Amino acid sequence: MEKLRQLRVGFIGAGRMASAVAQAILLAGKAGASLLRHTETPSREGHRGRWHQKWLRTPSEGTGSFSPGPASSISHLPRQPRQFQSQNQVGNQTKRAEDNLPFPGNPGVGSTPHTQTSCSKMECWRPDGEVQAVNIFASAPSNRNLEKFQTFECKTTHCNLEILENCTIVFLATKPDVLPAVLREIASAVTKKHVVVSMAAGVTLQALEELLPAGTKVLRIMPNLPCVVQAGATVVARGTCADEEDVALLKRLLSHSGLCEEGPESYIDIHTGLSGSGVAYAYMFAEALAEGAVKMGMPTAMAQKIAAQTLLGAGKMILETGEHPAVLRSAVCTPGGTTIHALHELEKGSLRSTVMNAVEAATSRARTLGKR
Ligand SMILES: NC(=O)c1ccc[n+]([C@@H]2O[C@H](COP(=O)([O-])OP(=O)(O)OC[C@H]3O[C@@H](n4cnc5c(N)ncnc54)[C@H](OP(=O)(O)O)[C@@H]3O)[C@@H](O)[C@H]2O)c1
Repeated sequence: MEKLRQLRVGFIGAGRMASAVAQAILLAGKAGASLLRHTETPSREGHRGRWHQKWLRTPSEGTGSFSPGPASSISHLPRQPRQFQSQNQVGNQTKRAEDNLPFPGNPGVGSTPHTQTSCSKMECWRPDGEVQAVNIFASAPSNRNLEKFQTFECKTTHCNLEILENCTIVFLATKPDVLPAVLREIASAVTKKHVVVSMAAGVTLQALEELLPAGTKVLRIMPNLPCVVQAGATVVARGTCADEEDVALLKRLLSHSGLCEEGPESYIDIHTGLSGSGVAYAYMFAEALAEGAVKMGMPTAMAQKIAAQTLLGAGKMILETGEHPAVLRSAVCTPGGTTIHALHELEKGSLRSTVMNAVEAATSRARTLGKR
């Protein structure tokens, strides 16, 4: 546990996945987790030039929730100026018009309004695990996503090299097309003490190792979006120099993001077809279930809730009983009953074969994209 307390974890790239993983890490080592919602809109005050400063109410004060806001509005509270100064500028970090968009409703790069909604709900995880928020660092060219990290009292910068200087575990969380340039920028600062963890889709371990100094410990992970609600599924693959201990530490860090399984790198594309994209198949199934119920006369809101709970419960039963899904399905079927009649309809619609084709199509697409 002591190791987690002292561990310094950095993120190069601070978007959706980085913040989802960071929040899981903030809960690492904690037996339970608490979800806090707040309605206050954090202010952009506190950013002065290249200094990232933020004054936050501590959890023990007030209501117990974090209420970031303008320094002036909480002047009765102790102030904690940040001590993390950017030294260099990276890439395109000139302040852009979008940086002034209000938080948390500002659309991030590549974020659809839909996924942004999911992300706004995860601004609220209380960082009360063993990893210290002050030991989490994040870099990005603009402030738009760094705000989330500041909300948790993490340290932020526009300088990627500062992440290497301060952290031993470094997550690479930029879009894949940006990553080669980032790797070239940081390569000279990467040492044997670092464990570099890439979450960029399609960037292979071989490509990562080629762009980093020989002997670098590299891990590749593929999380999925439900990490934001601690119900994600992540596959980890290790590079040639990463060892058992590195994987164990990563798994411990990600223990609150959901499931984390190690496998050969070839499983990562399959995982994309099964789980990364699989989330969307499940949404489509939930939608269809709910619409069936609406057709039969149930109000939409109730039908959607029950459809979601049905998927959640079914998944939980598979995980907790360890039974094959076919065994559980068969247990629901009373001879001549409702379920077997419904399953016959699903078989007529080739549900199984269609879903298998979908997993194959997404996996093949992930492999193709990875080769580009
Ligand atoms: N979203 C998913 O469901 C998912 C699932 C599995 C894996 N992934 C992988 O996770 C990675 C991140 O995805 P995301 O959805 O989190 O993307 P995102 O929300 O667009 O975040 C990308 C981040 O990279 C930052 N960035 C851009 N150029 C940079 C540079 N030169 N140096 C440092 N940071 C830079 C951006 O900065 P600004 O904040 O200034 O824009 C932003 O914070 C991708 O490689 C993706 O393939 C995503």
